[in-house]
Amino acid sequence: MAKQLPRSKVIMHWITATSVFFLFVSSWWMLSLPLPSDVFTYRQLPFQLHKNIGITLLAIVVTMIAMRVYGREQSIQANKTRLEKLADVDHLLTYFLLIACCISGYLSSAYSGWETTLWWLVDLPGWSEENDDLNILFSDIHLWTCWALLAVVALHISAALYHAFKDDGVIDKMFRL
Ligand code: HEM
Ligand code: HEM
Repeated sequence: MAKQLPRSKVIMHWITATSVFFLFVSSWWMLSLPLPSDVFTYRQLPFQLHKNIGITLLAIVVTMIAMRVYGREQSIQANKTRLEKLADVDHLLTYFLLIACCISGYLSSAYSGWETTLWWLVDLPGWSEENDDLNILFSDIHLWTCWALLAVVALHISAALYHAFKDDGVIDKMFRL
C-alpha cells in the first residue's frame, strides 16, 4: 500500500493545483481587458487577484519543498524503480517551474511601475524604478516558464491517470486525508 502523506501536504497540493488552474484562466481574462485609463479600470481587480494568489502560492510551494526536504514522509528509499525516479524528476521540475513562474511574475510586475498590495492589506516594497526593458524581459520569462509549467503539469496529470487506471494505490496518496 502507498505511504500516507501528511494531511497538510495533501491540502497544499490541491490548493496549488486549483491556484495554478486559476492563474492560467485569470491571465487570459485580465490580458483581454482594455488597457487602464481614467475611464477603464477593469484590469485592476483581476491583476491584483492574479498577483495575490501567485505570491501566496509561492509561500505554499516553499513550505511543500521544506516538508519534502526536512519532513519524514519522503523516507530515503534505496532501489527506486524507474517510474519512481521519473516521478521524482517530474516533482522537482514542477517545483522549480512554480518558483520560476512566481519570481518572474513578481519581477515583471515590480518593473512595470504598478504597485502590489498583498490581499489589499500589505503594500509590498516598491524596490525598483519603472523600467520597460526589464519589465519586457521578465514578462517574456514569465510567459515561457508558465508554458513549460503547463507542459510538465500535463505530463503529471497523464501519469496520475495512468496510475488511476492501473489501480496501484499511488493516486490514493493525494485523495486520502
Ligand atoms: C505559478 C504561478 C503563476 C502562473 C502559472 C502565472 C501565469 C500567468 C500567465 C499564463 C500569464 C499570461 C502571460 C502572457 O500571455 O503574456 C501571466 C501574466 C502575468 N502574471 Fe502571472 N502567473 C503566476 C504567478 C504570478 C505572480 C506571483 C505575479 C506577480 C506577483 C504574476 C504577475 C503577472 C503579470 C503582471 C502578468 C501580465 C503580463 C506580464 O507582465 O508578464 N504572476 N501569468
Ligand atoms: C496544476 C496541477 C498540479 C500541480 C501543480 C501538481 C503538483 C504536484 C507536486 C509538486 C507533487 C509532489 C508532492 C511531493 O512533494 O510529494 C505532486 C504529487 C502528486 N500529484 Fe499533483 N499536481 C497537480 C495536479 C494533480 C492532479 C490533477 C492529480 C490527480 C488527478 C495529481 C496527483 C498527484 C499524486 C498522486 C501525487 C503523488 C505522487 C507520488 O508521490 O509519487 N496532481 N503534485
